[in-house]
Amino acid sequence: MGYEVTKVKKGEQVHFKMPDPAFYEALGYEGMKDLMYRFYDEIYESAIANFFPQDEEEFNKVKEKNALFFIQLCGGPKVYENEAKGMNLNEYMIRLHDEFSIYEKSRYEWLGCMETVLRETDIPQKLKDDFWSYLENFSKLTVNTFSDGSVYYAAYTQALEDK
Ligand code: HEM
Repeated sequence: MGYEVTKVKKGEQVHFKMPDPAFYEALGYEGMKDLMYRFYDEIYESAIANFFPQDEEEFNKVKEKNALFFIQLCGGPKVYENEAKGMNLNEYMIRLHDEFSIYEKSRYEWLGCMETVLRETDIPQKLKDDFWSYLENFSKLTVNTFSDGSVYYAAYTQALEDK
């Protein structure tokens, strides 16, 4: 399958499937944390680094929270639960990104950082493909600024979680 990226269409319904727990099982808690730390190291060097806190301590806090989110999302312990303040985790994630002006191009860069670290991760490709499919689809809901200058915040009802 590889690391394909399909385009965002403003207002479209986005189908996504939560990652297969086998991805988390293959990596384990520490492996997952390592993957996500490497991802944020890539982000730090990327063209979207400016979106993130410039202060090292603040950056590290987001890095840690991001790792905890993905651990929970992928079927690990509920270590991010309190952050979402009782909101559905997916809805919380969409709303959290409203604070930033995210273009399609920023999404490509974000996914590119993820591709780099996944390529360097030694687990079956099938598991990586499954995780990629979640990321590639769900990330569409974080894009809120369009090249025609318009702004559109995805409604949670646009997110269709396929079982
Ligand atoms: C599958 C899609 C995505 C997921 C699941 C995701 C997840 C997350 C998580 C878990 C956090 C940390 C939340 C916290 O502080 O508690 C975060 C923060 C952030 N994400 Fe995303 N993200 C996604 C896509 C993107 C994209 C495409 C961008 C593009 C620039 C982006 C930019 C940011 C920024 C700027 C922050 C916050 C930095 C800060 O708090 O100062 N994210 N994201």
